[in-house]
Amino acid sequence: MPNNVVVLGTQWGDEGKGKIADLLTVNADIVVRSQGGNNAGHTLVVGDKKVVVRLVPSGILHSSCQCLIGSGVVVSPEALFSEIAELKASGITDAESRIKVSAASALLLPIHVAIDKASELKRGANAIGTTGRGIGPCYEDKIARRGLRVGDLYDMDVFKSKLKDLLDYRNFCLKNYYGAEEVSFDSILDGVMQVRDRLLAMVADISAILDDARKDGKKILFEGAQGTFLDIDYGTYPYVTSSNTVAGGCCTGSGAGPRHIDYVLGICKAYTTRVGGGPFPTELDNEIGEGIRKRGAEFGAVTGRPRRVGWYDAVAMRRAVAINSLSALALMKIDVLDGMDELQICTKYRLADGTESDLPPLAAYEYANVTPIYETMPGWSESTIGITKFEDLPVNAQKYIRRLEELAAVPVAIISTGPERDQTIMVANPMA
Ligand code: GDP
Ligand code: IMO
Ligand code: MG
Repeated sequence: MPNNVVVLGTQWGDEGKGKIADLLTVNADIVVRSQGGNNAGHTLVVGDKKVVVRLVPSGILHSSCQCLIGSGVVVSPEALFSEIAELKASGITDAESRIKVSAASALLLPIHVAIDKASELKRGANAIGTTGRGIGPCYEDKIARRGLRVGDLYDMDVFKSKLKDLLDYRNFCLKNYYGAEEVSFDSILDGVMQVRDRLLAMVADISAILDDARKDGKKILFEGAQGTFLDIDYGTYPYVTSSNTVAGGCCTGSGAGPRHIDYVLGICKAYTTRVGGGPFPTELDNEIGEGIRKRGAEFGAVTGRPRRVGWYDAVAMRRAVAINSLSALALMKIDVLDGMDELQICTKYRLADGTESDLPPLAAYEYANVTPIYETMPGWSESTIGITKFEDLPVNAQKYIRRLEELAAVPVAIISTGPERDQTIMVANPMA
């Protein structure tokens, strides 16, 4: 039975990773985040209670689960502690003691938020449509080796000197390139000092914890954020996020070795959504899309923006299967397709030169110019909400799922029939 399981998005994010991570965590000792930051919004639904976690790993609802934030994550102390306060208000009082953070995680500071917003404004019509959380600029500083890390908080003389250097550069850009207001050294320092001791008390060697846990036979869930096509290398660049969202990123971002991953579960919706700008070949900018958006409540968990909606894209999925070495799929939100006359599945792309392709192109300009080639399947009129057995699904829903499985060439291990934990068909539990 696999002990080390990755749960990640195979599309453009918001696939339902939170629900599945929360569900599988019943059997997990540790949940670790390896990339992204508080741009993520993972919804957990238990009864009539809904919790959205952003920076905190989805295992937080289970009191025996340790929640780790690896070095690949960008950590906004402000966001982290406001999320911990929200969790406390909803009855999870021990969150702070169960979360551990790597000293090597990049610190996301208000200067990054200011740059993110100014840079989006400057891009105008070509804006990425970021979450405005400062994610991109924080990763920029990390890669440019001028960023600050959580561990820099141990020595405040060093911290202040690095912060001064960072602000000299970033404020120069803000003022002179973006024509925006500068962010003051004192305001950032004050904000950090308010939570410094609490944050340092959470610091731990995440890689070592994972290694010990593995040797003890514990169960570890690696929780991905965003999705495969928002990956900085393999996504629809530049309309992507700034981290590696694919399976490889969970090793570099947590400090676990690649040989210690046993199973990779790809989360996908039974259709596709994307929030923000960029190519989206199967987009339904019409009444059908509007219907799916309404039934699926497709509005961002972080920013509240309406999500763009489209048909299921089996071409993109072929890339996601290969790049993430997927073991299986969790197919989400099948209930949202209830009552549709027919469904389309994109099985190939026609490229701008007229040729057909089984795989999505990696060049951005090519991706923007593909035309989807569809296969049509009959829909079903019955409700699938809350169904827990495959054989209880309408026959056409069964056929649709089997066809997606065939096109992806990996099994469907979980089918989700509603937002709640028990609205699930568990074909094969990866962690039980
Ligand atoms: P994540 O970012 O991948 O964790 O996904 P989000 O939480 O941003 O978005 C998924 C949304 O779909 C959330 O509101 C979930 O509660 C909801 N959801 C998850 N699974 C299902 C399902 O099977 N059916 C329906 N109707 N909603 C679902
Ligand atoms: P979860 O984990 C969906 C998108 C933004 C934008 C692009 C870059 O909930 O699936 P960023 O703020 O990261 O620089 O924005 O990436 N994006 C997401 N879309 N789900 C997410 O997270 C996302 N995180 C970022 O909309 O297009
Ligand atoms: Mg989300």
